[in-house]
Amino acid sequence: TAEPAGLKDAASFPIGGAINIRRVNEDAKLRAITTTEFNSITSTNDMKMYRIAAREGQLDFARADSTVAFAEAQGMRMFGHALVWHYGLPDHIAGLQGAAMADFLTAYIDTVVNHFRGRIDGWDVVNEVLDTKGGGMRRSPFYQQLGTDYIGLAFRTARRADPDAKLFINDFGTERDTAKVTGLLALVDSLRGAGVPIDGIGLQWHQQMGDDTAVVRSTLRRAAATGLLIHVSELDLIFNTHNDEAGGGTEHVQAVTPAMLEQQAERYEALARIYRQEVPAPQQYGITFWDFTDRDTWIKGFFDMGDWPTVYDENLERKPAYFGFRRGL
Ligand code: XIL
Repeated sequence: TAEPAGLKDAASFPIGGAINIRRVNEDAKLRAITTTEFNSITSTNDMKMYRIAAREGQLDFARADSTVAFAEAQGMRMFGHALVWHYGLPDHIAGLQGAAMADFLTAYIDTVVNHFRGRIDGWDVVNEVLDTKGGGMRRSPFYQQLGTDYIGLAFRTARRADPDAKLFINDFGTERDTAKVTGLLALVDSLRGAGVPIDGIGLQWHQQMGDDTAVVRSTLRRAAATGLLIHVSELDLIFNTHNDEAGGGTEHVQAVTPAMLEQQAERYEALARIYRQEVPAPQQYGITFWDFTDRDTWIKGFFDMGDWPTVYDENLERKPAYFGFRRGL
């Protein structure tokens, strides 16, 4: 029997899935969904600094390498996430002072980007450099030691190490917080003004049913006006709310009804359509789902609450959200 066509076949731009390669290798059904639906792959955790540089003085590429090999075997685009992120840093990195922090970042980015040179289409070079809310700079260990300069250093080092990789700045909350959007775009502007090599903006899109789609649309329009590539890098859509901090979920929905699933489908449809409408085709780097089954979604563990944010249900069957999204493509 012929394989059912996937989202990647329905879309005019790349459709990505974030995966944990161990799960994909262990679970035949998850693997079939991955290869059917997506033509771009992001690793949920295995390319993060806290994984690759977990142990002082050595870099561990094992799982990242097997993820890249999987993507290549499937003829999929591999996206790198993320070179520099404050979250979950081991002490041997978070505690670096002054020049030692700059030296570490330079060596780390140079080594990692070189390791994958020519095999990674694009990188999230910096992730979540802005405050959770409001558009100011996040007081990360990198910022505390180096000020805003660490961002330019990161992009320049990445560009030198792989001149063909597309380099992104990635952040969250832009579907709710217009001040943060203003801060993000001002930062991008000033970086480019200083000659920092940046090719694209990643908008995570961890969305909530209560978000105003008018804000989603205006953010996309404002971001696209930069002329840069626009990647919706981490799409999911929850019924509950949270404060963006681990464990900070507010659970008020105990079960989903068919009517709620239908509303979620309509929202997914609208999001796909808004992306097509607001981002000119040459700038459409694609939409990536951050986990794509309600069984495996990170939301439940990270925010400690039940939810149903993805396009496949807990039994790994397509939800109304799936068909909604596909209608919007
Ligand atoms: C999340 C992963 O999905 C979890 O497994 C992990 O425990 C924490 O990180 N923004 C990002 C992603 O940029 O890297 C995060 O991924 C989700 C929020």
